[in-house]
Amino acid sequence: MTQASEWPSWLAGWPLDLARSRFSPEHHGDFERWQAAVERMPPLALTDLNLSQGAVGGSIIASPDEIDALEASLQQLHPWRKGPFQLGPIYIDTEWRSDWKWDRLAPAMGDLSGQRILDIGGGNGYFGWRLLGAGAAAVVGIDPTLLFCMQHRAIQRLFDHPSHWVLPLGIEEIPATTTFNWVLSMGVLYHRKDPTEHIRQMFALTEPAGQCVMETLIVDADQSLYPKGRYARMRNIGVIPNLDDLMRWMGEAGYRDIRVIDVSATTLKEQRATAWMRFESLDKALNPQDASLTVEGLPAPLRAILVGTR
Ligand SMILES: C[S@@+](CC[C@H](N)C(=O)[O-])C[C@H]1O[C@@H](n2cnc3c(N)ncnc32)[C@H](O)[C@@H]1O
Repeated sequence: MTQASEWPSWLAGWPLDLARSRFSPEHHGDFERWQAAVERMPPLALTDLNLSQGAVGGSIIASPDEIDALEASLQQLHPWRKGPFQLGPIYIDTEWRSDWKWDRLAPAMGDLSGQRILDIGGGNGYFGWRLLGAGAAAVVGIDPTLLFCMQHRAIQRLFDHPSHWVLPLGIEEIPATTTFNWVLSMGVLYHRKDPTEHIRQMFALTEPAGQCVMETLIVDADQSLYPKGRYARMRNIGVIPNLDDLMRWMGEAGYRDIRVIDVSATTLKEQRATAWMRFESLDKALNPQDASLTVEGLPAPLRAILVGTR
């Protein structure tokens, strides 16, 4: 759902005109191809939407030709990184088994009934669906990567859910005019130039007594890592903190009761190339002789999930 008129009135202070203007060929050269793919999707709907299973989705009553057309449209939105999704007989086997991260996170969030949630860097909205499945009243995702917003647009054509939006905005563009019961930042901190500013922005967007989820790459080391070049072949990595620094930054921003709920190494089963993400993946980013190191000789990806309260 991307029409401004369909965005919730409580986002009135946000730069919605800017968000709307980004669904355009001026903003991204592939927009018209993506938009055509979404518009070519046959007018199908799920008969039994299930947001509480690993592969979110459900059944579709359609002819084989319609299913082929749907699959062709969705493949135009390659690469699919976060999922999986089950759309009738089509299983979108995404690069990430994001359901595994959800399984690590969900027990700490509990029942989300009535909660309004912001997912910063939420990609195509996979976690938003799981949050709604856990009872959330409304989920807003923001992600500056337009393709992921288009993937959400495609999924929304099938799910037609009234309370889930993904806007092509970055955290730095969001005013603190609306606060949220939960603010999630997963996989974003290490892409930000100033991690402490990022956490301060999260705090400003968190309702008093609300909570945040901070999920990030970390290092198990005395010093946080500031890669000089690439890290696991990624160019735009500012800092990979150790837990001490991360908890201190969260505390300095104002969060209290900060707790580490999970630390896990990323495995080649959790992040891998598939038919829906045909580019290179984690296996090409690790040292072939020693999987505890990246190809740059740095510690292999280790991720932590922390929760804090405002
Ligand atoms: C590693 S992915 C994480 C996706 C998802 N949250 C997850 O945990 O699997 C990082 C996401 O952050 C988005 N991102 C990058 N810069 C951002 C910014 N300034 N504000 C919000 N999101 C950003 C990227 O487009 C990308 O989708």
